[in-house]
Amino acid sequence: MPETTVVKVGLGARAYDIHVGVGAIDRAGALIAPLAGRGRVVAVSDRNVWPLHGERLTAALRAAGLGCESIVLPAGESTKSFEGLAGLLDRLLDLGVERRDLILAFGGGVIGDLAGFAAAILKRGVDYAQIPTTLLAQVDSSVGGKTAIDVRQGKNLVGAFHQPRLVIADVGLLHSLPERERRAGYAEIVKYGLIDDTPFFAQLEREHGALETLDLGRIAGWVTHSCRAKARVVEADEREQGMRELLNLGHTFGHALEAALGYDEALRHGEAVALGMAMAFRLSERLGLCRAEDRARVEAHLAAVGLPTRRAQINGLKSDAAALYALMRQDKKTRDGRPRFVLARGIGKAFPGADAPESDVLAVLS
Ligand code: GLY
Repeated sequence: MPETTVVKVGLGARAYDIHVGVGAIDRAGALIAPLAGRGRVVAVSDRNVWPLHGERLTAALRAAGLGCESIVLPAGESTKSFEGLAGLLDRLLDLGVERRDLILAFGGGVIGDLAGFAAAILKRGVDYAQIPTTLLAQVDSSVGGKTAIDVRQGKNLVGAFHQPRLVIADVGLLHSLPERERRAGYAEIVKYGLIDDTPFFAQLEREHGALETLDLGRIAGWVTHSCRAKARVVEADEREQGMRELLNLGHTFGHALEAALGYDEALRHGEAVALGMAMAFRLSERLGLCRAEDRARVEAHLAAVGLPTRRAQINGLKSDAAALYALMRQDKKTRDGRPRFVLARGIGKAFPGADAPESDVLAVLS
């Protein structure tokens, strides 16, 4: 059996482990068996992931004596909708899922958020585990219990905190992930360096070539480091009353950009976060908080891996600054109608809850 590195998320009665490693999926049965009360798992996946990896997952579960049914949904952000949720709940109920069963989210962020939310509300709460198959989901969305769907007014506006019982991050699965998706996920790894970990950012500046060569050893190291960072934040502020907001570095800008494009393929979430982080550093510099050298270093690193740092790089983005600002006001973090930002006093020195004059925000968005 493959070795995995275990990261603990210490949340008392809701504590769980994150297993990171190449081939970790082959341990799914052994890891999940103690969590599936009557030996039954329902995997929720999508039409990209299931044909590639479904058989391997099923074999791992069966080897541990677990029964596995699957629900395979269309791939893409539009599945994370009221309609998608209703359809999934309907199928889970038709399968007779009980509280003692385990729902298994097997896919990227869309599947994790949707299946997690369905688990949170089905029969007032069913356990679930995450097997994230994208880099973005492995370092961010599968950890910490945020679940949600998108609605007309914005992304992730309807959801619940519902912690998984287990996360298995198999970096070997990244082989089948398109290069663009790997790059997009990398943006969330950079985020941890920018928030409070300058040495990690410097490590990424040295090692980023491993993303292109798919050096799984190095990537597993980044995933483990990122999950540890996220676990620390979630342990301190599970329900985002304060410091968890730090994890939204780049997201106020990023979500507005995504909404402007209608969550289109033109801009992946991680790309929006990369551009959003560049904008957050530009706003920080404009407000006299951060040195130009730090802002330039952030932009240079993102650009070095092929991530966008300028709005002109986004095809089809027609909204002007005022329209993007209006979208920002829909953000969950908005207070009294004013968007709030995570800004930075330098690399590794981010702080949450910042207000900024509208004129400066508009200048950065232009
Ligand atoms: N993705 C941000 C968070 O989990 O809080």
